[in-house]
Amino acid sequence: MSSMTEYALARRPADWPQPEQLGFGQKLAPWVVSAEHRDGEGWSALHAMPLSEARSPMASGGLQYGLSVFEGLKAYRGPRGDAHLFRPREHAARLTSSARRLRMPHVPESLFIEACRLAARLHEDFLPPQGRGSLYLRPTLFADEEALGFRVAHTHRLALIVTPSSDPLPKTVNLWAESELARAAIGGTGAAKTGGNYAAGLLGLVRARERGCDDVAWLDAARTRLSEAGTMNLFVKIDDTWCTPPLDGTILPGITRDSLMTLMREQGVDVQERGLDLRELATLEREGRLGAAFGCGTAARIVRIASIRSESSTVSFPDDPQVAVLRDRLKRCQEGTESGFSTWAC
Ligand code: COI
Repeated sequence: MSSMTEYALARRPADWPQPEQLGFGQKLAPWVVSAEHRDGEGWSALHAMPLSEARSPMASGGLQYGLSVFEGLKAYRGPRGDAHLFRPREHAARLTSSARRLRMPHVPESLFIEACRLAARLHEDFLPPQGRGSLYLRPTLFADEEALGFRVAHTHRLALIVTPSSDPLPKTVNLWAESELARAAIGGTGAAKTGGNYAAGLLGLVRARERGCDDVAWLDAARTRLSEAGTMNLFVKIDDTWCTPPLDGTILPGITRDSLMTLMREQGVDVQERGLDLRELATLEREGRLGAAFGCGTAARIVRIASIRSESSTVSFPDDPQVAVLRDRLKRCQEGTESGFSTWAC
């Protein structure tokens, strides 16, 4: 493992934006934390290099065949101003299962967490004050062997880039239920956090925007049940129960999804994993049994869904104060002003 003392602490440039102006992914921090894996040798020590010097081979499996999986987690400032990671072990476990699906090497939890801690410490000066934003960390594992044949690569790289980000603002979206394209099918890679899934979804986003909506409501391969809301997991309230599609291998097992289910259960709120048929939701709306809906993810936190439109119908979801309460509670847990989930000091 590398120690911090080997690297210069990065300093925020004088013209760096205020936290509220950072947005998401617009500004990249100057260091990349990296380690290499070679067959038969295992993992190298972590090291840091300037982002401007980081390179990926043109003929790599990562670039040519999408042999690349990633995570998205955040470092926040706690009540005393110190930096911590929110639920890094769960992110490490998800990277492992994504890597397994794409036949890539296992990243030990200790290596993953040390890489995140080093990246956060190097960029401490870029971490906004408590309540005003975070460092979004993007650990990426990819095949980086320079060879064009389609096979399991002999060398891989774990590279962690950092983007200082604003606190996501409460937002409301209207979704378009995509009836031609599908994001994932049983047996596919839908549960893996891999670039290919996002690539497969981009045309859907464009088609939703062309129809006047903000994002796409993905249906399962049979085009009946809701699966994800754009790049977020999805919750819909039916009667007094919050429902979310089950993890059947087509859906990303979101850490935010999991945190919210835990918070709801703690509060005595009923939450169920169950299929959400779009036609059933239309019937429930007519019966007055359909409540609010929201999407959730690490980058976006919670985004209220106002409607899901399709060729034949529009299902509308009322606002519900419970959504704002959940958003605030999740923010407090992430920032460490309320406990309940594992956090790691940087
Ligand atoms: C995240 O929420 O962490 C994601 O990876 C979604 C991405 C499209 C920003």
